[in-house]
Amino acid sequence: MSRVPLRPEVAGEAFLALSAPPDWKTVFHGSEGPLELEIGCGAGGFALEYAARHPQVRFVAFEWRKKFAREVAFRRDKRALKNLVVIEGDAKHCVPKLFAKGSLSAVHLQFPDPWWKRAHQKRAILVPDFTPVLFGLLKPGGVFDLRTDVEDRAQAMLHELEAAGFHNPLGPGVFHPYDPDDVPSTRERRYLVTGQPVFRARLTRP
Ligand SMILES: C[S@@+](CC[C@H](N)C(=O)[O-])C[C@H]1O[C@@H](n2cnc3c(N)ncnc32)[C@H](O)[C@@H]1O
Repeated sequence: MSRVPLRPEVAGEAFLALSAPPDWKTVFHGSEGPLELEIGCGAGGFALEYAARHPQVRFVAFEWRKKFAREVAFRRDKRALKNLVVIEGDAKHCVPKLFAKGSLSAVHLQFPDPWWKRAHQKRAILVPDFTPVLFGLLKPGGVFDLRTDVEDRAQAMLHELEAAGFHNPLGPGVFHPYDPDDVPSTRERRYLVTGQPVFRARLTRP
């Protein structure tokens, strides 16, 4: 993807000050479609393409790195995608405030940073004090879409999700096969070319 100029404004700044969920229907121009969340959208390969393919979905993408968040917001505007909100902030801090319990139809977490160093492990997304929060924000039947290239992290995260109550339709500990209809993330596109293994899980809230 070609580089874009760094915008001066913080992406989705108005959402950062909120202490309660906004009226998402108003935010999304009257749409009441499924509300979906992506944590750590990076360069936005998934968010931009998924929002374009599913115009009925109301998609909220979090990315705390300024360069990425503003670049995705720029590309969103260039493609006139009205169903994509990008928020430049820490998802773990903002998500519990911005979404009501049982309001999400899907959570997408793709290639989260593995945070190898012990001192950094608290930055991981699927940790015991945050996984249940995500479980509670999903509606019954809501989907958790996990993808990663780090095998032991994949197993640990799958275990964490199942322990929090998510249902794995393929059986406990079983990864989901590659689905060519899935929209690949920026990182996943690279692995689809190189053939590097990707571990996928698609769980539901019972
Ligand atoms: C390895 S990248 C993967 C990006 C993208 N999902 C993909 O598959 O191409 C992980 C991204 O998550 C972002 N991230 C990690 N923790 C985050 C948090 N708490 N809130 C928002 N973004 C976060 C990082 O800045 C990084 O861009």
